[in-house]
This record gives sequence, C-alpha cells and structure tokens, in this order.
Amino acid sequence: MRILLTGKNGQLGWELGRALSPLGEVNAPDRAGLDLADTERIVSAVRSARPDVVVNAAAYTAVDQAESEPDAAFAINARAVVVLAEEARRAGALFIQYSTDYVFDGTKEGPYVEDDIPNPLNVYGRSKLAGDLAVRSAGGPHIILRTSWLYAARGENFLLTMRRLLREKGTVRVVSDQIGAPTSAGALADATAEVLRRFSSAPRNLSGTYHATADGSTSWHGFASEIARFEQAGAPRPLHVVPIPSIDYPAPAPRPKNSRLSNEKLLRTFGVKLPPWQACLEACYAQLGSSSQRPD
Ligand SMILES: NC(=O)c1ccc[n+]([C@@H]2O[C@H](COP(=O)([O-])OP(=O)(O)OC[C@H]3O[C@@H](n4cnc5c(N)ncnc54)[C@H](OP(=O)(O)O)[C@@H]3O)[C@@H](O)[C@H]2O)c1
Repeated sequence: MRILLTGKNGQLGWELGRALSPLGEVNAPDRAGLDLADTERIVSAVRSARPDVVVNAAAYTAVDQAESEPDAAFAINARAVVVLAEEARRAGALFIQYSTDYVFDGTKEGPYVEDDIPNPLNVYGRSKLAGDLAVRSAGGPHIILRTSWLYAARGENFLLTMRRLLREKGTVRVVSDQIGAPTSAGALADATAEVLRRFSSAPRNLSGTYHATADGSTSWHGFASEIARFEQAGAPRPLHVVPIPSIDYPAPAPRPKNSRLSNEKLLRTFGVKLPPWQACLEACYAQLGSSSQRPD
C-alpha cells in the first residue's frame, strides 16, 4: 500500500509516520517538499506519488491567530483540502482527513454525534468545517476522523505548556468550564492505522465522518490537574491548579463550552476505541521519558 502523508512534523503527523509504516510505503513530504498553499504543487505531488491512501495531517492549527488571518486558515484547511481530496479521488485513493470539535458551538447538553449540525464559533472551526464539506463533496472514498484537544510529547500543546508553567511557577490558573476529551496524537495515530486496516478489508464502502477522541471527558482544569499529579512526583514544592471561568481567560477565538464527542459510531463500525484520556496521558509521559527529568 502506498501512503502519502502530509504534516509529518506536526504532533499527529509524527505519530502517523510511526503507526502507518507497518501498513505500507509511507511517502511523507514536509512543508518544504509540499507546501499546501501551492495548489499546483498538490496536484503534481499526488499525481507523481500515485498513492493508494492520502492521509492529511497538515493543517493551519493556530486557533487564535486564525481570527486575524482567516485567508491563511482557509487556504490550508479548506482550499488545499479541496484539491487534495479531488486528486485522491482521481487517483482512486482513500482520503483520510482530521476534523475538530470546534465545528460545533458547544451548546448541546450531551456528547455530539456525527450528524449533529455544526455551528463553529471561530474562524479555525469554520475553515475546518469547509474542509470537511470539501472532502465529502469530492465524492471519493474518505474517512474524516473528528478529534479534540490533541497533544503529544512534541510540538506546541497544552500538556507541554502546563508542564513548563507548573515547573516555572508552581501555580497555574486554568479554565474549568470547557469540557472535552484530551486526546493524544499517539492514540489517534494508532486508531487511524486500525481504521485503515479495517477499511481496506471491509466488504462495503465505509466512507464517512467518525468521532475519534480518547475515552471519557474532563475540563481543561481537570486535564491540568492530572498533569500536575505527574509533575508533583519529585517536585520541590506543592503544585496548584486553580479553576477559573473562561470569562477570566479572554482569547481572540471563542471556544465551545461542550466539546464532548460520542465515539460510538467508530466502535460500532470499525471496532476501534481509543483508551481513556488518563491512560493516554500516562503513555505520553512514558514517551517523554528522560526528557521529563526535572531541571536542577
Ligand atoms: N491540535 C488540536 O488540538 C486539534 C484538535 C482537533 C483537531 N485537530 C486536527 O488534527 C490534525 C492534526 O493537528 P496537529 O495538532 O497535529 O497539528 P500541528 O501539530 O499544528 O501540525 C500541523 C502540521 O501541518 C503542517 N502545515 C501547516 N501549514 C502547511 C503548509 N502550508 N504546507 C504543508 N504543511 C503545512 C505543519 O508544518 P510545519 O511542521 O512546517 O509547521 C505541521 O507539520 C489537524 O487536521 C487539526 O486541525 C487538532
């Protein structure tokens, strides 16, 4: 199986490089090798790769910055996806795309299901929703995995920021009224590989959108508290995570209060379930390994 993977140096792309390599030959150009802002390059890259599967882990992910540069967000999250998805269909390749909890407005009481009506609150969410629609309307075989609160042992993310702040300051103030599932890039990459295996051997076309987050849910405050629990071992002083309402942490992009996604369809269709979010965090700490050693 020939796999064309974008975004190889991102949190998820890095883990996908590992998880997908047992399935076939992974061709993973970095941004210099394939700049998604250049649609002609996308066409030539897909045509010369002749992939069986295109996995798009690249995205414009700067949620707050997107508010002031919507064109840049739409260029990568929507316009590039139109071309990638059409080229994938033309090549007869399966297209795998990642979506976000930020396509929803967070006003639903329970977990969102795939058919719930999106209503993004911010530019990033709107650009990603446009990408979802582009994948579906390209009309080829596709899987959209919609995830939330992604983090990894590398990159820029909540885990690494909290870790640094806890070590530097000992006390952090964290939003407690946004609920979701912190999802490790490693667990999502493993789930992607399993979905791909099962998609390839399924007797019918299982194209569609599937929610794929770690099991369970918490607030950003709950997530930070669990990070503090790991950090506390060996810390020179007690660490504190203070709950605050979103209103006390103003950001350019509004965020949904409820980011919970139901993963039942993924389980029902592919038999795939991601581990509980606490187990994902523990695995990520194991991966951080010696780099998690506290500085003197
Ligand atoms: N992060 C989250 O909390 C979250 C939540 C829900 C869904 N998602 C979705 O999950 C997927 C993976 O996200 P992530 O957190 O792994 O993202 P990430 O760490 O920000 O990585 C994004 C990758 O996209 C690449 N990229 C950006 N612009 C590009 C361009 N013009 N041409 C080529 N490559 C470009 C980046 O390249 P460089 O390495 O050169 O910068 C980077 O490798 C995305 O679809 C994202 O929307 C993320």
